[in-house]
Amino acid sequence: MKYYFVKLARMINPFAFLNPEGDEGIRVMGHREYIGGHWDEIGALQFDFLKSKGLQPQNYLLDIACGSLRLGVKAIPYLEPGHYLGIEKESGLVEAGLNEELDHDLREMKLPQIVISDAFEFSKLEQRADFAIAQSLFSHLPPDMINNCFRKLHPTMAEGGIFYATYFEVDSVRKNPDKPHDHGYFAYTRSEMLTFGENNDFVSRYIGDWNHPRGQVVVEYRKV
Ligand SMILES: C[S@@+](CC[C@H](N)C(=O)[O-])C[C@H]1O[C@@H](n2cnc3c(N)ncnc32)[C@H](O)[C@@H]1O
Repeated sequence: MKYYFVKLARMINPFAFLNPEGDEGIRVMGHREYIGGHWDEIGALQFDFLKSKGLQPQNYLLDIACGSLRLGVKAIPYLEPGHYLGIEKESGLVEAGLNEELDHDLREMKLPQIVISDAFEFSKLEQRADFAIAQSLFSHLPPDMINNCFRKLHPTMAEGGIFYATYFEVDSVRKNPDKPHDHGYFAYTRSEMLTFGENNDFVSRYIGDWNHPRGQVVVEYRKV
């Protein structure tokens, strides 16, 4: 029992919510810790996972809540110019990613397209995405915002495009906080997560464990 609680505390960091959000949080925590740390590990995990699912350089990849480019630093060099698409609400994270994590010449050559928005304004992106991923976004959002994300994402995905979303899984429906929080803990049942997709014209498929260091699982949503 004690082991279980220690393991759970390591996974979700129960005091993380005490950290501030926004620019002040980025200043205090740094742009790598703000998005959860495990910089190299979770960056490589996402990149290798997407390639194992068929991501190729000519595809358009949409990184939803791209943060400080933990995935971007790996995906941008791999993809053709202009094929990395991102959306993120914290401009400070994106600036840190572009200026401190990505080589300047590479950035000029690869031209990542990133929209700053907290309202899932995917329509501001010019291309439609073959692949999309929301890594550790829904672990910080209440259900109405998750549903809104799916609803707005659908027209932005190419026909047959695939979206992967990660989340903390619980066995029974949990009363999550009403308001989003970048350092809060939100968890969903498998059924809830599959339903978000089905309600928004995606075909949902549970994948589950993908070796995430904090124990998040993953679901695949295919646009139909
Ligand atoms: C745990 S971090 C994960 C970042 C990134 N996906 C990664 O794996 O490195 C969660 C991110 O979601 C962003 N975020 C939260 N709510 C958002 C919203 N409504 N729209 C866009 N980004 C949001 C946060 O600012 C933060 O960068």
